[in-house]
Amino acid sequence: MGRLAGVKLEDDNGIPLYRQLVDQLSTRIRSGALPSGYKLPPTRELAKDLNIHRNTVVRAFEELSALGFVKSMVGRGTFVADVEEAPIRYTETLDVPQRSLPWDTLVSQATELETVQKIRRISQQVRHREWYNLARMEPPVSLFPVERFRHCIDHVLRTQKGKALRYAPREGLERLRTLLVDQLATKGIPVRVEDVMITTGSQQGLDLVARALLDPGDTILMQTATYTGALGVFSASGARSIGVPGDDDGPSIEFLHRLNTNRVKGFYLMPDVCNPTGVCISEKKREKIIEWSHERGIPLIEDDYASDMELDDELPPPALRALDPEVIYMGTFSKKLIPALRVGYLICPQAFHKRILPMKHAMDLGTSVLIQQALAEFLERGYMRAHLKQILPEYKKRRDALEASLTENLPEEITWNHPKRGPLLWLKLPQYISPEEAFEEARREGVLVNPSSLHEATNQRGPNGLRLVFLHEEPERLHEAGKRLGQALKRLCQRVPVSATNGERAFNGI
Ligand SMILES: Cc1ncc(COP(=O)(O)O)c(C=O)c1O
Repeated sequence: MGRLAGVKLEDDNGIPLYRQLVDQLSTRIRSGALPSGYKLPPTRELAKDLNIHRNTVVRAFEELSALGFVKSMVGRGTFVADVEEAPIRYTETLDVPQRSLPWDTLVSQATELETVQKIRRISQQVRHREWYNLARMEPPVSLFPVERFRHCIDHVLRTQKGKALRYAPREGLERLRTLLVDQLATKGIPVRVEDVMITTGSQQGLDLVARALLDPGDTILMQTATYTGALGVFSASGARSIGVPGDDDGPSIEFLHRLNTNRVKGFYLMPDVCNPTGVCISEKKREKIIEWSHERGIPLIEDDYASDMELDDELPPPALRALDPEVIYMGTFSKKLIPALRVGYLICPQAFHKRILPMKHAMDLGTSVLIQQALAEFLERGYMRAHLKQILPEYKKRRDALEASLTENLPEEITWNHPKRGPLLWLKLPQYISPEEAFEEARREGVLVNPSSLHEATNQRGPNGLRLVFLHEEPERLHEAGKRLGQALKRLCQRVPVSATNGERAFNGI
């Protein structure tokens, strides 16, 4: 073994053999015991000496090469490389005086916004426990297409090499944008490649729209119960949000016509599945909203976050963007594929697109090329179709399990509409039940849900309710969560006295 004498690998110390070999060889290289230029024994020979599989040695050499400790030369063997001096590290903590700056007075007003604080308060209350989590809006880890996605990343790195690791064009990769154009065409949304902008999640799309549209003091319209992330982004821009009330087929057209729209700059909507109420806006209302938008000169901002999540094989009415090219449209791969991709897309009318594009560049210098290429590969290989085929039946099972349990366990005054698509179910609470109390009571039972108060536009009561997400938990756990929720809500209903006069329960302030 020459200079390698003394290398000893242990089978049972919990560290893989190849890792042990890497550690021991790199230590010797660093110390100079294996000098630069030294030729390591052939893998077969070393494996035999150490009594391990040859692949273990090959893997260790590859790792040493990746770390820069050795260089392999085809036909000649593996040699110890020139190892640079290890960087100097501070081994002792410096004695720094403990002084703090007045952060409470330095931070911007945006950090104090009630929408941001509300989310912080609730998430602080719910840390550190094992929950039935019906609040988390993301697919479960077990359903992520890890292997398929790994193949795509591997392929991209192997074929494109360094090109996949550069900054991206500001509008996103043409390859991915072209695929999106085809996908949107199947939904009846006609767009050109140059209309599509890739964003870092659709959240960035929202943020960009807010920055490009709203000045402090402007007003943005939203459904009265709306997506918390939109509330945060719009209020951070200094705008006032006004909730547009509605019913089970969408926002009230009468309300829109009565509204003084001075300084109103947009109407943000989730037409297919409102987060949190699950409301799908009817086709007739969609047409009327578009008419109103043109009459008043106010753009519609359509968030199609749950696209392709059809659970009952029933398509929603045409997208607003399919009916009107002046609509600002955004979509995402977070819910139907992988949130960590952070890939969304924004389709803007031409005149707005050219204003917003430089802002996108200024904000993040582009969305990851590596991820965009891997996603394009994923789509081109048809993996998306295969993935949807796998996840949709599973989500349907989860939704059905939750609904069955709610039917069995909830008090009869609490109702909901059957969710035909998307990730959530909205429990309608009667006015005499406070959603925050219901949230607390559910929490006591170990079930985590979103109370409607989290979703309300500034200073405005929306519909009373609880948002239940059924993506995350398995059917058996959803069944148990429904049971516990039933216990919690029955307790709340029983605490409310029945009014003697009309037989309805009166709200007693709980
Ligand atoms: C309605 C809605 N829009 C947009 C987003 C943002 O998604 P992402 O930034 O992951 O694309 C979410 C995330 O939960 C959402 O619920």
